[in-house]
Amino acid sequence: MKIFTQINEVRNYLKRQYPATVGFVPTMGALHKGHLTLLERAKAENEIAICSIFVNPIQFNNAQDLQYYPRPFEQDVVLLEKVNCDVLFAPSEAEMYPQIPAISVQVGKLGEVMEGKYRAGHFNGVGVVVCKLFNIVRPNVAYFGQKDLQQCAVIRQVVEDMSIDLELKICPTLRENDGLAMSSRNLRLSPTQRQIAPLIYQALQTAEKIIREEQNLAKAQAEAVRMIEQESAFRLEYLEIVNLRSLEEMKEMNKTLQTEPLAICVAAHLGNVRLIDNVVLEN
Ligand code: PAJ
Repeated sequence: MKIFTQINEVRNYLKRQYPATVGFVPTMGALHKGHLTLLERAKAENEIAICSIFVNPIQFNNAQDLQYYPRPFEQDVVLLEKVNCDVLFAPSEAEMYPQIPAISVQVGKLGEVMEGKYRAGHFNGVGVVVCKLFNIVRPNVAYFGQKDLQQCAVIRQVVEDMSIDLELKICPTLRENDGLAMSSRNLRLSPTQRQIAPLIYQALQTAEKIIREEQNLAKAQAEAVRMIEQESAFRLEYLEIVNLRSLEEMKEMNKTLQTEPLAICVAAHLGNVRLIDNVVLEN
C-alpha cells in the first residue's frame, strides 16, 4: 500500500494511474470492520481502492470529543493492508487547513434537523472536508455508510448541487453480534456501558415492528423512547421518524413505505460517549 501525506503527492500518483477507476472511502481512522466492508467493496468494484484517514477538526463541535478521538494509526495501516487497500492518504491538519477555510457548506433543512440541531457546524465541517477530499482524489465512486444516514443525505445534496463528477454508494451498517452499530466511539464505552448500548438497536427494531404491524408512528416513537429512557445511564438526544429523502419528521403515515420510505434515527449519550444509529424502512 502506498501512503501519502501530501496533497500534491497523492494527486500526482493518482494522475499517473489514469484511466484506472478509483473507489474512495473517506474515514477518520480507528478503523473497524464497518470501515473495512466499505473498502472491500471499493476494491472489488474499482481498479484502485483509496482510503483517507483525517480526523477533521472543523466537524467536531465538542473539544473533548476531538481530543479523545482514537488515533491508532499503525493498527489502521495493518488493517488496510489486510483488505488490499492500494493507497492511504493521511494528511496532517496543516496540510489540509493551512488556514481556517473561509468557505462554508450549507444544505438547508437537510443539515439543520437531527444531528444539525445538536451539533452546530458539524455538517458544514463534513461538507468542506468531503469536497476537499473529492477534489484531491477525484474518485469514480465514493463509499459511505448508512450508519451516518444524515451525512449521506448532506453529501448527496452537495454532489448534486455542485455537479461533482462521481457516483455515491451507500453501504449497510455493520453491527456487533448483539446489534450495536460498529463505531470508533464504542472503544470509549466502559464494560457496563458496553452492555447497555445494544438497547439502542433493540429500541429501533421495536419501533420498526410497530410501524410495520400497526402503521402507528406516534406509538412506535413513544415505545422506543420509553425503552431507552428506562435505562437511566442513557441521555437521549432525539429519536425521530423521518422521511428518508427530506429527513422531515413524520407524525403520521399517509402512504405506503414503498411510496414514502422512512428512517428511524436516534442519538443518545452513554456517559460522555455519543452514539447514533438508524434503521431504514423502504418496502
Ligand atoms: P468515520 O466516522 O471514520 O466513518 C467513515 C465511513 O465509515 C463513513 O461513511 C461511515 O458512515 C462509515 N461507517 C462507520 N461505521 C460504520 C458501520 N458500523 N457500518 C458501515 N459503515 C460504517 O464519517 C466520517 O468518518 C467522517 O464524517 C468523514 C466522512 C470521513 C468526513 O470527515
